[in-house]
Amino acid sequence: MRYNRLGASGLMVSPICLGTMTFGTPVTEADSIKLIHQALDLGINFIDTANVYEGYARFLGSSGGVAEEIVGKAMKDRRDRAIIATKVGAPVGPGPQEKGLTALHILREVDRSLKRLQTDTIDLYIIHWPDNETPLDVTLAAMETAVKAGKVRYFGASNHSSWQLCELVNLSEKHGWPRVVSSQIPFSLLRREFQHDLNFCDKYSIGVTPYQSLQGGLLTGKYRRGQAAPAQSRAAEKPEWMWKMDDPLFDRLEAIERLASDLGVPVLRYSLAWTLSQPAMSSLVVGAKRIEQIEDAVAALDVQIPTEHFNKIDAIFPPPWKQMDPIRG
Ligand SMILES: NC(=O)c1ccc[n+]([C@@H]2O[C@H](COP(=O)([O-])OP(=O)(O)OC[C@H]3O[C@@H](n4cnc5c(N)ncnc54)[C@H](OP(=O)(O)O)[C@@H]3O)[C@@H](O)[C@H]2O)c1
Repeated sequence: MRYNRLGASGLMVSPICLGTMTFGTPVTEADSIKLIHQALDLGINFIDTANVYEGYARFLGSSGGVAEEIVGKAMKDRRDRAIIATKVGAPVGPGPQEKGLTALHILREVDRSLKRLQTDTIDLYIIHWPDNETPLDVTLAAMETAVKAGKVRYFGASNHSSWQLCELVNLSEKHGWPRVVSSQIPFSLLRREFQHDLNFCDKYSIGVTPYQSLQGGLLTGKYRRGQAAPAQSRAAEKPEWMWKMDDPLFDRLEAIERLASDLGVPVLRYSLAWTLSQPAMSSLVVGAKRIEQIEDAVAALDVQIPTEHFNKIDAIFPPPWKQMDPIRG
């Protein structure tokens, strides 16, 4: 396994990070723990979770906690073998203080996450979504409190645009508060709204750890035009988490498959290799049910996308992604 720098943190992380959003259901606790241990043995040293993750049982405002508890059980006797990232900010209940990036919520949730994770320190504490109602200096000061108390080592952001990251960087530098070191955004061959933000992250040493680089499984090659979703796939089990599988989507998927077959590699490896080749990439947060799926992702590390393919790929994905940011475009 090779390792990449996680932005300005100095941490070295495996280019594949184990996502835990489906731990609990459909991946049982026992299978999740086994999967974590197998992933560590493969050289994966980066685990992504969130206070709200509880597998398919999750809904907006559900209490979460399940995935963190599983990670805690799996890691308690081998804590030093992985960087553990968790998140705060999404609702964990119906009440007005049970969400967002206020000091109250962050400092309450960090203690809950530490307990569930059975650890003294969260390596990377990620603000899950922007909270437009809480001043950023409140959030950053709370993060500083958590870092000074030794509860958090580094802080990252998720679902933030580059201008929002820019605000965070500026405020942190002005006040000497902890500086954002990572950005977790949705990004895949099929989803490139954040394409231009990657250069900003590169310039400011913010390590990008995209999620859904397989677009929930669409880029694995297992969904075929005109055929029912395979049994035990996400599209069969949790269709509301998947995109609509229509002809325009299959046109794009089949075009990507043709490019992958030019290189003689499966589409999954091609897709992940392309994502990893983008600016500022530290690690792809990949979901998996079985270790074979993580092994497939790790195999993408051996694939090089030839230069001429980048233009061919862009031709399959015309604007609007190119129009998202005309200033930097
Ligand atoms: N920050 C955020 O807002 C945010 C949001 C979403 C997710 N995340 C993080 O990103 C992680 C990944 O998200 P995700 O699971 O939705 O997306 P993903 O990584 O694009 O998709 C993973 C799913 O694809 C299928 N798959 C993976 N490898 C495969 C293979 N080799 N062959 C066939 N199928 C394969 C599996 O589902 P099936 O086998 O069930 O089909 C797997 O659960 C999450 O666990 C979470 O940690 C973060």
